[in-house]
Amino acid sequence: MQLIDGKALAEKIHKQVAVDVEALKREKNIVPGLAVILVGDDPASHAYVKMKAKACEKVGFYSITHHMPETISQDEIIQIIRMMNDNPHIDGILVQLPLPKHIDTDKILEVIDPKKDVDGFHAYNVGRLVTKLDAFVPCTPLGVMKMFEAYEIDLKGKDVCVVGASNIVGKPMAALLLNADATVTVTHIHTKDLKAHTSRADIVIVGVGVPGLIKEDMIKEGAVVIDIGINRLENGELVGDVDFKAVAPKCSFITPVPGGVGPMTIAMLLSNTLKSAKQRL
Ligand code: GUN
Repeated sequence: MQLIDGKALAEKIHKQVAVDVEALKREKNIVPGLAVILVGDDPASHAYVKMKAKACEKVGFYSITHHMPETISQDEIIQIIRMMNDNPHIDGILVQLPLPKHIDTDKILEVIDPKKDVDGFHAYNVGRLVTKLDAFVPCTPLGVMKMFEAYEIDLKGKDVCVVGASNIVGKPMAALLLNADATVTVTHIHTKDLKAHTSRADIVIVGVGVPGLIKEDMIKEGAVVIDIGINRLENGELVGDVDFKAVAPKCSFITPVPGGVGPMTIAMLLSNTLKSAKQRL
């Protein structure tokens, strides 16, 4: 069993981004800029946004966080996004999800200029991803693809089971895998027999937010297991969606939580923002 070290891989990417930022500043006088919009007081969202801002600072980006109260209206959020769309110093706009219930998330995401949509959630980028055109790709699934590349895990013709069908993770993950010639099964909350699908897969990718969902008897000997879940237990411990202790010995490769996919998500946000800044030219 080999651990996939997302933390180390992410750090390598951060370093490369920092080098590219230096060159962009020196040669083109461009400083990549990211605007983050955070609504309300969800502690997990706050923690993620803080990590994103810190990573931006580390690689030399310009970043601003618009923190708005829970009670803000949809129109006020839209106004801020339009301002960021028009701001020439901003290359990426990220609206931290989830948004409060009175806000229509789809409407908000559609206001973001697709050329600044570094999260890849706008329908324009989703459509381009599915048709295998150049697009901004959602950071978490893109990070998983980078892990496969770095660890030389071949996807062609492989049976891959994606557990979870969200717009943020499961659906774009499935599109990327299909584009890489894998045979993809997507399971979700209404799937009749989850184990029947996971236990025959060469690669299982799970991101649903249910601690310990994937147990030892659901995984084939020698499979690759990618755990996208990040769950805080009552005792404060951070765990994924996979029963790591029991599952790991059966795997050829597995990602830990923490230190697996999480750091890669932030690395891909930096990478997408840099890509956008380079397209400013
Ligand atoms: N909420 C959970 N994951 C994400 C993400 O990747 N991007 C944004 N904007 N919000 C999230």
